Amino acid sequence: MAQLPARTRSIRLLRAACHAAIAALALAAGAVQAGGKVHPAAWPAATHATGLDADGERRVGELLARLSVEEKVGQVIQTDISQLEPGDLRQFPLGSVLAGGDSGPGANDRAPPAAWLALARAFRAVSTEERPGHVPIPVLFGVDAVHGHNNIIGAVLFPHNVGLGAAHDTELVRRIGAATAQQVAATGLDWTFAPTLAVPQDVRWGRSYEGYSQDPALVRDYASAMIEGLQGPPGAGGLLQSGHVAATAKHFLADGATREGVDQGDATVDEAELVRVHGAGYAAAIRAGVLTVMASFSSWQGAKMHGNRALLTDVLKERMGFDGFVIGDWNGHGQVPGCARRRCTAAFNAGIDMFMAASGWRGLYANTLRAVRAGEIPMARLDDAVRRILRVKLRLGLFAPERPFEGRFDLLAPVELHELGRVAVRESLVLLKNDGVLPVRASARVLITGAAARDVRAQTGGWTVSWQGADTLPADLPEATTIEDGLRAAIDAGGGIVVDAAEDPAASRPDVAFVVFGEPPYAEGAGDLKLPLYGSRAALTQLRYLRRLGIPSVAVFLSGRPLWVNPELNASDAFVAAWLPGTEGEGIADVLVGDSQGKPRHDFRGRLSFPWPRTVAAEPFARGDRRPLFPLGFGLSYAHGGRLPRLPEDILGRPPSPVAAH
Ligand code: BGC
Ligand code: BGC
Repeated sequence: MAQLPARTRSIRLLRAACHAAIAALALAAGAVQAGGKVHPAAWPAATHATGLDADGERRVGELLARLSVEEKVGQVIQTDISQLEPGDLRQFPLGSVLAGGDSGPGANDRAPPAAWLALARAFRAVSTEERPGHVPIPVLFGVDAVHGHNNIIGAVLFPHNVGLGAAHDTELVRRIGAATAQQVAATGLDWTFAPTLAVPQDVRWGRSYEGYSQDPALVRDYASAMIEGLQGPPGAGGLLQSGHVAATAKHFLADGATREGVDQGDATVDEAELVRVHGAGYAAAIRAGVLTVMASFSSWQGAKMHGNRALLTDVLKERMGFDGFVIGDWNGHGQVPGCARRRCTAAFNAGIDMFMAASGWRGLYANTLRAVRAGEIPMARLDDAVRRILRVKLRLGLFAPERPFEGRFDLLAPVELHELGRVAVRESLVLLKNDGVLPVRASARVLITGAAARDVRAQTGGWTVSWQGADTLPADLPEATTIEDGLRAAIDAGGGIVVDAAEDPAASRPDVAFVVFGEPPYAEGAGDLKLPLYGSRAALTQLRYLRRLGIPSVAVFLSGRPLWVNPELNASDAFVAAWLPGTEGEGIADVLVGDSQGKPRHDFRGRLSFPWPRTVAAEPFARGDRRPLFPLGFGLSYAHGGRLPRLPEDILGRPPSPVAAH
């Protein structure tokens, strides 16, 4: 390479240094957020249905006026219970704590309910202490109760949202919300980070199962139902006194729109689609009085949502009238240009009211305080955030001493909740194929097999005891009934026989076999899929073997999303999508096993809330698959037949030649 003259070289260096400095300044100011242009008038106007009355607003104002700047900054920071002791609140008056998916009292994920309650009380006690220079404000304790109170040993857990979507039953969702709220209130916690209002467009996304549907209308209807279930009717105060908790509409916005379904990725859709599809649940949530909204890790048109002032402030708060508070997601502020975990004015100024500072909260506290003092965060912005947080605390009834549901551990798994969960499972089942083998006669000889037949992990999925749910043990779910337990009970009751699964079916000769299989548990990005979509072929081998023996088979498929299973569909005589049903495995037998004459006891009611892919090619998983194998709304029933022609098994969907008749 030729040597440049020294002068040219130094000019170039100087120019490069200048560019770097300007870029750094712009980053620090949060000015390099690219992102799409937003037109607030294009969004639905809504008003918050639980606005505090004039007295309440006056009380908020009075409290705010008494707070020191340190206390105000404390209110806008939340950290994880693994990161602090209750006593730390004396020095750092944080507004909130959370227990993340892998956290539990005393660093024990499997702590008993009483330990949760004791921890909640310990935090509350310090936050409300009378001390000089301290205004007592109870700390808010949040948790991910996303399919029932899933961090608690001994709770009834409901189907994950994908299954509830298939049930198409808003009343069911409302009841599950109310039941979950009581479970959470019983352990002394105040707030759940649910419901997820994602409208997942590409099921390669590992969080697809947290979404109800690819249909925005269903998400909208469920948003109101779940929030009203969790929080009680819009307008009600004293939530905790009535066995309710604060809900969170998450993740704002377009978490389900990221390209190729990449978790925390970029949504490239236009604003009209944001309004029509991904925003569909939010106006409904606000009308239902949702107290909090969580910002999404993802980006829209290249700009991180945590830094998107136009959407967080101009649209959500101003146009849509949301007057609760916006919580960030797990260190999500640190991903905004110019920000780090311990330092971030851009996200706060854009409209995040409370940081979820999973780590580095001490630094964040000090740096935020400094930014306020330096005027980088206007006092008016800080006051607005604190006002919103106090408003939520007041509406919740957090300041009132009475918490009649606290300590009612009998509410974690009462008979009625088992029944509710069981009904939910029943309603969520989608029948994709039935060549006449279902319902199984309760007096039959049956084989129950497959890796997931008695695996609570496959049944409950991620967000169960731990974040990933991968090491959930039967002892962690003492209230659970496995799918095998349920089938066995129904067959026993009908006078049938369950053959020994260890024996070769060629010898035991069952009348019919249930083969239960599916996805392993996962959460968030760990569940993101690359093509091809489904690779476990153990069940397929089993189904083909049974077919060779002439033993009819019923495939029960557990998954967080529709996947390409054409070979399994071909190899089985009936195929049921059972999603991630939770603890109440009997719900499956209720529908699959008839009476001793073989008459159905319950019909299938579930209908797909996501289209089912025809091939494993990328294109069908992207938005608007126009040629799904089974469209949205598909679902067979006993009343309406269910044969299925043989499907192509070539992974790209090319028909086999010649097309074999089934
Ligand atoms: C998830 C949120 C969740 C939070 C707290 C994040 O990683 O994206 O949905 O509420 O963690 O566990
Ligand atoms: C936490 C989860 C959180 C996740 C995000 C986990 O360690 O337990 O709550 O969602 O990290 O990265």
